[in-house]
Amino acid sequence: MDAPDASPEILAADLELAERVARAAGEGLMQRFGGLVEGLEHKASETDPVSEADREAERTIVETIRAERPDDGLLGEEAANLEGSSGRRWVVDPLDGTVNFLYGLRAWCVSVALEDGDGVAVGVVHDAASDETYRATRGGGAELNGRAIAISGHDHLATALVATGFGYDPEVRAAQSEALTHVLPRLRDIRRGGSAALDLCWVAVGRLDGYFERGGHAWDWAAAGLMVEEAGGAIDRLEGEPEGLVAASPALLPELIELVRAAEADARPSVRP
Ligand code: IPD
Repeated sequence: MDAPDASPEILAADLELAERVARAAGEGLMQRFGGLVEGLEHKASETDPVSEADREAERTIVETIRAERPDDGLLGEEAANLEGSSGRRWVVDPLDGTVNFLYGLRAWCVSVALEDGDGVAVGVVHDAASDETYRATRGGGAELNGRAIAISGHDHLATALVATGFGYDPEVRAAQSEALTHVLPRLRDIRRGGSAALDLCWVAVGRLDGYFERGGHAWDWAAAGLMVEEAGGAIDRLEGEPEGLVAASPALLPELIELVRAAEADARPSVRP
């Protein structure tokens, strides 16, 4: 499947659509934020929740994208998995940071990305609770609320502030926590914010120096990964099952990857990925 050439005009129209649907979902989520939780269920494990808030936000996004881009595919965290014929696919996390949202903590966001044959072309991460909207287009830079952003450029591992996240599968968590005992003493500190997309956006805007996590998904990483790259940072995958992602300045990335790999190799064989 070949995607049509992504001209600046096409990317601008797709960016506008991504931002519009992310904001619409964010408005609906803000109406529910702090209120009674409806339709709570659990997915992969009893620590992996989904509620009517996630589902409604996904419906809002999917309906508009399907109406305006009927030939595109769509992958959403909750239910959507639609084949397209255009060679393009929207990758959507309607509510990244679901646990924070359910507890009334403000670190959650809506993430919308568009992929084509060359990778991620457009990304929007909307942090509705803080009124912060991150946007990026491939080759066009990244911005926060309309102002260009750049990574911290930090290149010294021992003084780097690095975010990470934990999966919902207890075995993955066991491996992650063991690896952390090796990683933490070698950094300034670790942050676990609870939203991978926001962690990556905070790397893009220089609030964090790096991020690593094994076991995230395409919908957590697609839009915000582009944000990091377009803000001058670099990302790379950690091979293995489940896969991982590492992000930092281009100078710091190789050292951070080496640290994470060494930490995982140090973990007990029974919990290694
Ligand atoms: C989760 C968050 C969390 C990360 C997990 C994700 P969700 O997404 O991004 O920070 O550590 O790997 O699954 O479940 O809140 O959409």
